[in-house]
Amino acid sequence: MNSIVEQLKTRFTQTLVAAFGDDFAGTDPMVVAASNPKFGDYQSNVSLSLAKRLGQQPRAIAQQIIGHLDVSDICEPPTIAGPGFINLTVKPAYLEAQLNNIQMDRRLGIPTAKHPQRVIVDFSAPNIAKEMHVGHLRSTIIGDSIARVLEFQGHDVLRLNHVGDWGTQFGMLITYLREAHPEALTTADVLDLGDLVALYRQAKQRFDADEDFQEVSRQEVVKLQSGAEDSRRAWQLLCEQSRREFQEIYNMLDIQLTERGESFYNPLLPDVVKDLEQADLLKEDAGAQCVFLEGFSNKAGEPLPLIVRKSDGGYNYATTDLAAIRYRIEQDRAERIIYVTDAGQANHFAQVFQVARRAGWLTDEVEIVHVPFGLVLGEDGKKIKTRFGEAVRLRDLLDEAIARARADLEARLQKEDREETEEFKVHVAKVVGLSAVKYADLSQNRTSNYIFSFDKMLSLKGNTAPYLLYAYARVQSISREGGIDFEQLGADTKILLQEDTELALGKHLLQVSEILEEVEHDLLPNRLCQYLYELSQKYNQFYEQCPVLKAEEPVRTSRLALCNLTAQILKLGLSLLGIPVLERM
Ligand code: ARG
Repeated sequence: MNSIVEQLKTRFTQTLVAAFGDDFAGTDPMVVAASNPKFGDYQSNVSLSLAKRLGQQPRAIAQQIIGHLDVSDICEPPTIAGPGFINLTVKPAYLEAQLNNIQMDRRLGIPTAKHPQRVIVDFSAPNIAKEMHVGHLRSTIIGDSIARVLEFQGHDVLRLNHVGDWGTQFGMLITYLREAHPEALTTADVLDLGDLVALYRQAKQRFDADEDFQEVSRQEVVKLQSGAEDSRRAWQLLCEQSRREFQEIYNMLDIQLTERGESFYNPLLPDVVKDLEQADLLKEDAGAQCVFLEGFSNKAGEPLPLIVRKSDGGYNYATTDLAAIRYRIEQDRAERIIYVTDAGQANHFAQVFQVARRAGWLTDEVEIVHVPFGLVLGEDGKKIKTRFGEAVRLRDLLDEAIARARADLEARLQKEDREETEEFKVHVAKVVGLSAVKYADLSQNRTSNYIFSFDKMLSLKGNTAPYLLYAYARVQSISREGGIDFEQLGADTKILLQEDTELALGKHLLQVSEILEEVEHDLLPNRLCQYLYELSQKYNQFYEQCPVLKAEEPVRTSRLALCNLTAQILKLGLSLLGIPVLERM
């Protein structure tokens, strides 16, 4: 089923042709949700945009459009406002019919994408032998939600974890371990990731201070890259160690990812250089192979080089990303590639995309986007740190969210004089704690920095996960209280929208497909959060105004159906944010 806005767009498109001729078939009808409910539900500003082209006053154009527009089955008679806006108010009877349809539909009336694509979402991507930090947490949460929305819309999504598992740091680390902990290079589980991170730091200090050490480390990289048995084995052990710890976080957060780290592209790097050479893009600069970028310059105004191959023959992060683009387009047949990393990498991606385009791998048929996000700040507005001034470990952060959710729950149970099993408490605390962290991140426009506050994200009031989870649980409590099985409401259930709050809720329920389409295109999960938050608010207003179980038939059944539909859409929306629901909390 097409969303209301889609149907209105179709009608407008037909009308423009009928009123002004075939040349206007491709004109964007500019139908959008009304900016203010005073103006109705939808509006079109197309008359204003056509004024110049038609050489007429917008109001006169609006008159002609209305004269040809037939939306009487959907809307009240359209009105013209201000300089020529066309305002549309949807008829309650139409809303009722749509709601009746969607409650019978497995996808709640949400159509799948008209042109399903092969999409790659590149997200999370922590670095081996380093701790996963809050930036990776953001990437993980945002990337997962984007992937979930695209999957639900019917796209074929490949979720790729481009872990940093290659490069000079391994030479350094292996060399250091050979001295300090040789057993760690041949036996699994001798070190944990905490030790590894500390050792990495020590190795780096040593590397910076000791020239002999530097030389041995470089030789170690060469050994590793040329496949020497013992170096390979040491590297593999280090990777496995980190991988296990990353996996714990993914399990906690219910994240699915296919690992395809930087090392995967290692054998393909020489071909990348060859292609660039053939495209006549390579220039030598101080012994390094570079592509000089268009539109990027240094302070002196000279074009900036992207180094593809260093003077010592080594490759770098950018070369690997070039190989990845080439592979993703040629082998994976990706039609849309989405990179979820912090905003600080915007230039890196712009440069890599440019070179991929000039090399001919990336064509206009492929949409490639960097999806940037801001920093996670502490409540003091500075980069988040522990009390001891260290970077926050993700695991600790998630554990603390769960512990705090547990404390809140205990307090609430005591106040409400409720007894619950330990199993219930463990489960609720885990879902609430982790959902709160995810939602706090997703509900912000990702491009801005956000302030990490346990108190705010765990609050039962405001735009938070607990608030939404609570709205869902409240609906379920009606079914328990009334002994009602929502699934048994039946096909003949008629939804009636009589009270204002019912009408407002009904309209909002029908907007879900529009919102998902928006997220599918602009990759801003905060739009979905805002929608679900408003849905919960509208539901709560309805619930305060309209008795449900005590209402007379047929209103009682209609209201039960509205409750159920609200719960289903909340559940679906939350699942697309990676958040499970709780029947009770
Ligand atoms: N490992 C990188 C980091 O921690 C992120 C990788 C993102 N993906 C990519 N294809 N470059 O910053």
